[in-house]
Amino acid sequence: METNFIGAVAVTQAMLPLLKKSKAARIVNLSSTLGSLWSNSDPASPYYSQRLLGYNASKAALNMLTAQLNAELRGTSIAVNSVSPGFVKTDLTDHRGFMTPAEGARLPVQYALLEDGAVSGKFVGPDGETPW
Ligand SMILES: NC(=O)c1ccc[n+]([C@@H]2O[C@H](COP(=O)([O-])OP(=O)(O)OC[C@H]3O[C@@H](n4cnc5c(N)ncnc54)[C@H](OP(=O)(O)O)[C@@H]3O)[C@@H](O)[C@H]2O)c1
Repeated sequence: METNFIGAVAVTQAMLPLLKKSKAARIVNLSSTLGSLWSNSDPASPYYSQRLLGYNASKAALNMLTAQLNAELRGTSIAVNSVSPGFVKTDLTDHRGFMTPAEGARLPVQYALLEDGAVSGKFVGPDGETPW
């Protein structure tokens, strides 16, 4: 919770005064499909078996930051989204996964470079929009 949620809140609060001066600021919260309430509660979800309480709860909390920030920043040029990179071969996954780090970076970078007026307040992953 400290790293995945409180850390993101603290960094966002520190950066917001600068982001508000920018013409087109983008906030990308690096989330996980494991933080979806749907994937934790619907047995039909392919992620249902991943019972990582601390990790999943921290990403659900991060998604709440996205939703609340989006409401707070409505009408500004700042877009904020939660992005799940997919299952990526990194230290976090003991280098298991379907994607290389470069492939996993694609979606977060895409959302960092959104056009003006593009989506905000969404939760997305490699398969598109993800249920909260
Ligand atoms: N890999 C996946 O399949 C996957 C899937 C969904 C979401 N994600 C998300 O993607 C993000 C990046 O994960 P990753 O897979 O790239 O993992 P990673 O290779 O293990 O990298 C995690 C990074 O976070 C840093 N970190 C950890 N605790 C920290 C702390 N308390 N303060 C500052 N930095 C800290 C680590 O720093 P040090 O190296 O210095 O320890 C490391 O650079 C995470 O938010 C993760 O939840 C990953």
